[in-house]
Amino acid sequence: MQQRSDQARREAGAGAALRLPQVIGHRGAAAAAPENTLASIRKAKELGASWIEFDVKLTSDGQAILFHDDRLERTTDGQGAVAATTLAEIKRLDAGSWFGPAFRGEPVPTFDEALMLCVELGLGINVEIKPCRHREAETAAVAMAILRQHWPQHMAVPVVSSFAPESLRIAREVAPEVPRGYLADRLPRNWRDLMARYDCVALHLNQRWLSMRQRTAVTAAGVPLVLYTVNDGARARRHLESGVTSVITDHIDRILAAIGAAAPDASIGAAVQR
Ligand code: G3P
Ligand code: MG
Repeated sequence: MQQRSDQARREAGAGAALRLPQVIGHRGAAAAAPENTLASIRKAKELGASWIEFDVKLTSDGQAILFHDDRLERTTDGQGAVAATTLAEIKRLDAGSWFGPAFRGEPVPTFDEALMLCVELGLGINVEIKPCRHREAETAAVAMAILRQHWPQHMAVPVVSSFAPESLRIAREVAPEVPRGYLADRLPRNWRDLMARYDCVALHLNQRWLSMRQRTAVTAAGVPLVLYTVNDGARARRHLESGVTSVITDHIDRILAAIGAAAPDASIGAAVQR
């Protein structure tokens, strides 16, 4: 009977339980390694993370890579718009030297390379779809197809988030079974409607603008709340004690120590059954 209802839920487009951890590494381990690289993912694991967040966007030839900015300058030795650069050209760039000489030659990873490394390391993932303008639908479609292909059933159920509503819409269309997080800088007044519109199970917000009242409104509604970017230990502890489900941080080790997680953080956050 239970089996039958699980089957029915899958067919209706709902996924397995999302179990968010208390601590999620931002762009891998952004304070300790060049963001959104395989080195950053390995560092996150080394520092005790059980989950990481990273940003996915498309090259000019439609390949999904881990990258935050629309342009190459800040985090590589290249120049120009990511959307105007091919994967082959991006693969020749150094995405590590800007962070430190120890990371010289670190390449920009493709999304599938990153997924395979996370599987190897046993890391859960928050995939942030970060489209360049006008590529909201295409980026989500490509990313979700790759996620479906490369993310095995035995791994923790991932969460997909985006600031771009169109990306969430397409993510739901392509892979309805993958839970979605509604990502916003500030809590929208109609957050309940927006979450319902894109069938989101979690709310991902910038902690900087969130008042205690707003935080309480969300947590009291029983909605899993993920806050970014929380780099202060005491603040992370207060958030988590107040019902916040997860904090996304550049400083994984600092936050784990502050919340008294002696061992690598297990997925002990709220379980969300869709
Ligand atoms: O997904 C949370 C956070 O990463 C959103 O902001 O700019 O760091 O991608 P950003
Ligand atoms: Mg991000």
